[in-house]
Amino acid sequence: MLSRLQPALVRGFSSKKSPKVLSAIEREYRYGAHNYKPVPVVLEKGEGIYVYDVDGKRYFDFLSGYSSVSQGHCHPRLQKVFKEQAGKLTMTSRAFHTKDLGKYEEYITKLLKFDKVLPMNTGAEACETAIKLARRWAYEVKKVPKNQAKMVFARGNFMGRTIAVISASSDPDNYGGYGPFVPNMELVPYDDLIALEKSISDPNTAAFMVEPIQGEAGVILPSPGYLKAVRELCTKYNVLMIADEVQTGLARTGKMLCVDHDSVKPDIVTLGKALSGGYYPVSAILANDPVMLVIKPGQHGSTYGGNPLAARIATEALKILVEENLAENAAKQGDYLLEKLKTLPKDVVPEVRGKGLLTAISINPKIDGYQLCCRLAENGLITKNTHATNIRFAPPLTITKPEIDEAFAVIEKVIKSYA
Ligand SMILES: Cc1ncc(COP(=O)(O)O)c(C=O)c1O
Repeated sequence: MLSRLQPALVRGFSSKKSPKVLSAIEREYRYGAHNYKPVPVVLEKGEGIYVYDVDGKRYFDFLSGYSSVSQGHCHPRLQKVFKEQAGKLTMTSRAFHTKDLGKYEEYITKLLKFDKVLPMNTGAEACETAIKLARRWAYEVKKVPKNQAKMVFARGNFMGRTIAVISASSDPDNYGGYGPFVPNMELVPYDDLIALEKSISDPNTAAFMVEPIQGEAGVILPSPGYLKAVRELCTKYNVLMIADEVQTGLARTGKMLCVDHDSVKPDIVTLGKALSGGYYPVSAILANDPVMLVIKPGQHGSTYGGNPLAARIATEALKILVEENLAENAAKQGDYLLEKLKTLPKDVVPEVRGKGLLTAISINPKIDGYQLCCRLAENGLITKNTHATNIRFAPPLTITKPEIDEAFAVIEKVIKSYA
């Protein structure tokens, strides 16, 4: 089974890999599409903040499934609910009512203080749903002429991979070669209020959609006061403010929603990732009645959206965040991690950014970010670069101070090897 493909597949690693590792990598490479370039580790088990590979080697997980596993891997409460519901009722479709969907809807809307939730599956679907809702609102409520609604986004956004959301992307890797695109999508620079006002003062504008912190762009934080000013401008021009909190939401940055840091209330919020604690694709959008109720029966949906298994898992995932005070822990441990990252040699790490446990370092552009992640993995910590030179550190929110100390020692050792 092992072939001459191997050197290319594990090129980021200097140490020898076991046959188990090599054959798993090779099989994926042979039979799967090549749309990812994974760090060459082969994982088979997860527990809390750790994952283990097929040889039993332990790694700190500092990516957390791109911020999905905030509750920690295989959280016992999620395991229990998952097993219970898996043996009871998993899928009905929304053609019928189910016992637990309403309970989930009540819990999440009360927790996040919106009138209604619309359940979907993936983050991209949540973002698409938000765009569709905003367009419909523009025609029905704002009275924008038919098919003229304009959507405005911040440059550097990441909303996933479907045609609608890549139509608003400024990253050629994400949109290149996939045209033609959805029309009437306008981009303004992130953190630029003058450009935003110019764009949304167009009376055909339905919404401005923005990440409170741009995650995939490399954990880019806006200037203090930006989100508040966005809210004011959106209100002034009768434009919906949509906060894409698929990555920043649900305690990751130290508050239940990242917009809570600025006491800002968007008209629509998108959520995904940690909404299921890594168990299952669950996403949602939240809005108040005057916006959400412009969608009527039959006008939007998804076969799996809001299924009984998803409803139970999402409810439990949210309860864990609340009952284990994971937002508070993210704030505390995030501050601690950030201070430690700031001590790394400046010639290797010129910049450190973050809020809560969504942190990143910029590395010297002469260093290959992917190679650096391979070295981190060899030393027992996994994460992945975003673009070439940003390395994200986003562990599960359950992490403790001594665990950060231990994980940081790995980061420091690897970074210093480049100094
Ligand atoms: C802010 C944001 N929105 C949307 C998405 C898309 O989520 P998914 O990959 O589940 O479609 C992502 C994924 O990283 C994201 O970070």
